[in-house]
Parts: sequence; C-alpha cells; structure tokens
Amino acid sequence: MLLSRFDDDLRIEHLQTPEELANWRQRFIDSYRVIFRGPPYLEDMTEELAGFSWDYLTGHPGHITLVAVNPEEVVVGFGIAVPLTVTRLVAAQLAGLVPHKYTYYLAELGVLDAYRGRGLGRVLIHERIKLMDHKLYSHVVLRVSAKRHPSADLYESMGFVDMGVYMDVSNPRIDGTVSSDRRLFMSKVLSLVDVE
Ligand SMILES: CC(C)(COP(=O)(O)OP(=O)(O)OC[C@H]1O[C@@H](n2cnc3c(N)ncnc32)[C@H](O)[C@@H]1OP(=O)(O)O)[C@@H](O)C(=O)NCCC(=O)NCCS
Repeated sequence: MLLSRFDDDLRIEHLQTPEELANWRQRFIDSYRVIFRGPPYLEDMTEELAGFSWDYLTGHPGHITLVAVNPEEVVVGFGIAVPLTVTRLVAAQLAGLVPHKYTYYLAELGVLDAYRGRGLGRVLIHERIKLMDHKLYSHVVLRVSAKRHPSADLYESMGFVDMGVYMDVSNPRIDGTVSSDRRLFMSKVLSLVDVE
C-alpha cells in the first residue's frame, strides 16, 4: 500500500500482502543487482541470490519492506527490516550485546545512483524505524561496509553508533572472485523521537 510520496516524482510503497510482494519481487531483484555492483560492495549478485534474499527476508513475520518507485514503475530504492532473530547468523555475532528478542535488524538498503543525494536513503531508514512496534522493540542494528564510506556517516547522523563488532561477508564479486568484505555493526536505542 502507498506509504508516502517523495518529492514530485516518487512514491514509497509498504509491501505487506503476498500479492504486493510478488508484484515487486523481480523489480527489487533488478535494482538490488545494479546497486550492489557499485562501490563499496562490488558484488556480482545472481538473480538467484538476490531472489533468495528477498524471499527469505519477506517470508518472515514482522518484516518491514519498502520500495521507492518512479513514474515508470521502476524500483529506484528499497529498505527491508526484520526482527533480529530472523537472521540467525547475524544475531549470533551480537550474542550478549543487544537483547535479541527486542531488536530489529535493518537488513537491506539501496538507492539507484541517479536518485542518490536527495534524502531518499534517509527516508527509507526513518520510515522503517517508524513502522517498528515501539512497545515491543527497543533496539535497531545494521551492518555497513567497514571501509570508511558515507553510508556510515548517514547512519551516525541518525543516531546509530559504532558497536566495535565486525563480520566478514563472502559474496561473488564483479572481478569474478568470491571474496569476503568486512562489515561493521552499528546500533541505536529506539526513543520517542523515532516515531515523529
Ligand atoms: C547508502 C545509500 C542508500 C544512500 O542513499 P541516498 O538516497 O543517497 O541517501 P541520502 O540522500 O538520504 O543521503 C543522506 C546523507 O548521507 C550522505 N551520503 C549517503 N550516501 C552517500 C554516498 N554514497 N556518497 C556521498 N554521500 C552520501 C549524503 O551526503 C547525505 O548527507 P546530508 O543529508 O547531510 O546531505 C546509497 O548511497 C546506496 O544505495 N549505496 C549503495 C548501497 C549501500 O551502501 N547501502 C547501504 C548498506 S548499509
């Protein structure tokens, strides 16, 4: 369903029903593969890997899935969040550091190059946080590239802090290798300000 309008040309959809998820799946995959080919990740995501990520995350109760769409119905940005317990490998890295049961994980965020720098990334973070059940959840975590990158500044400006915890993630790269890159965890304690 329509969540909000962004500037004059984009709309943000909050996908909840199986029909909505099926309708946007392929367009998410197309955009995901383009976005993560670029820096800092340089990933060569296959259709299968991108589709697996979508199916896994959106298949769990509590997922918050947003797509930003242009007038040509292209997905120009997306954001997916899930309860941390859904992503067991990620959760395992944070054992003892956050209360797993009460923590959300900002799993995916991307904006197509041509649409960056307009504040869309920030909105896709903020809107997901607003949609979390603040009576149940107290923390939000995410991973960013450990190579210093502006996306970490973006999260910092929104109140996320460096947890000093790292995780190596292995993926196919555009240079033909399968190699790992280092991600840094950041976290934030939810407060009343986040629902405004
Ligand atoms: C990170 C990303 C989603 C940001 O999207 P965006 O729509 O450009 O973000 P915004 O316009 O809301 O930017 C917010 C702020 O961060 C800065 N910023 C974010 N990403 C930046 C980038 N790649 N280069 C330069 N500045 C960037 C902007 O300067 C802006 O600062 P300001 O609000 O003070 O002007 C986008 O660059 C992207 O998809 N990158 C590749 C995938 C990725 O890194 N995803 C995040 C994984 S955690």
